[in-house]
Amino acid sequence: PRPWRGVVEEYRSWLPVGPETPVITLGEGGTPLVTSGWLSELTGCDVRIKVEGTNPTGSFKDRGMTVAVSKAAEAGVKLVVCASTGNTSASAAAYASRAGMQPVVLVPEGRIAQGKLAQAIVHGARLVQVRGNFDDCLKLARGLAEEYPVVLVNSANRDGFRLAGQKTAAFEVVDVLGDAPDLHLLPVGNAGNITAYWAGYGEYAAAGHATRRPRMWGFQAAGAAPIVAGAPVEDPETVATAIRVGNPARWEEAVAALEESSGRIDAIPDEEILAAQARLAARDGIFVEPASAVGVAGLLRSHAAGLVDPGQGVVITVTGHGLKDVDTALAAAGDLVKLVVPPDPDAAARALELR
Ligand code: F0G
Repeated sequence: PRPWRGVVEEYRSWLPVGPETPVITLGEGGTPLVTSGWLSELTGCDVRIKVEGTNPTGSFKDRGMTVAVSKAAEAGVKLVVCASTGNTSASAAAYASRAGMQPVVLVPEGRIAQGKLAQAIVHGARLVQVRGNFDDCLKLARGLAEEYPVVLVNSANRDGFRLAGQKTAAFEVVDVLGDAPDLHLLPVGNAGNITAYWAGYGEYAAAGHATRRPRMWGFQAAGAAPIVAGAPVEDPETVATAIRVGNPARWEEAVAALEESSGRIDAIPDEEILAAQARLAARDGIFVEPASAVGVAGLLRSHAAGLVDPGQGVVITVTGHGLKDVDTALAAAGDLVKLVVPPDPDAAARALELR
């Protein structure tokens, strides 16, 4: 087996790059598709988890960022800007710095997980906290990119470079399974990823690499569910800060993906998100950030509502690593982290109630 070369080299003919494009890569993509024993048993389906937290900066954003920053490098760009709930900023900071560009990241003040804040800083980003939410950050980023010599690397950007890179996740699923699954579940925030997966499945099927396309099931956090509600949410609120988005940039494309795939979209309360995060970590050994557990919570909720027929092939994308947001995980753990014993086997055994 040859080493994985990153999504641009692995899927070059499917991407908007040419021989003159300098490839800025950290070896992203090629992420594991892990069988979930308990979810498979529960639903009677073959449930696989696409673990995107294993990407270089810990989220699926790296797939799109390698393409966006490579194209920016090709164009001779010096400054890139993005709005972010945290993961895009971490990824943009890493890739832009690697390319010798200055990243500028706009994040909602006080509302991004600490790990992501640290990533932006260590990778050399100019970090600007904005008094407002993600939607305000995106407006500001667009305004800056229009008026000043900075290039926007959000997936909202109409050049489509980010989404082109992100669609490679669908290619990988098909390459591993030999065909598209029946159902694909994932969290929805700004709605770029569901749009990208749908494009990827469509292109692969059109080229004969798959015989079908999956039904797309998207899930938003209940406090930030504009697509479910059919109207923008003024003050989105959820523990899943990564998807705290009130007015998704790719709203229409997401709705098209849902309609064309005979899919559905639903809202998940925060308690169910945290419960799914905890169970995925404890049962499958996969630690994801809260937003990333939304697809798993969605499968549990859909199963409870009798909506999941057994015998299907199901893929759930978990989008980002749990280490990005340890504060939330520790808050949920409560007293579980407070057991302290002296360095004495008998005392430890007593505290652990062994035998
Ligand atoms: N999961 C995680 C961990 C995310 O960071 C995001 C989006 C999503 C899911 C939703 O993906 O926006 O394509 O529908 N994070 C963006 C950011 C908004 O700024 O990092 P989407």
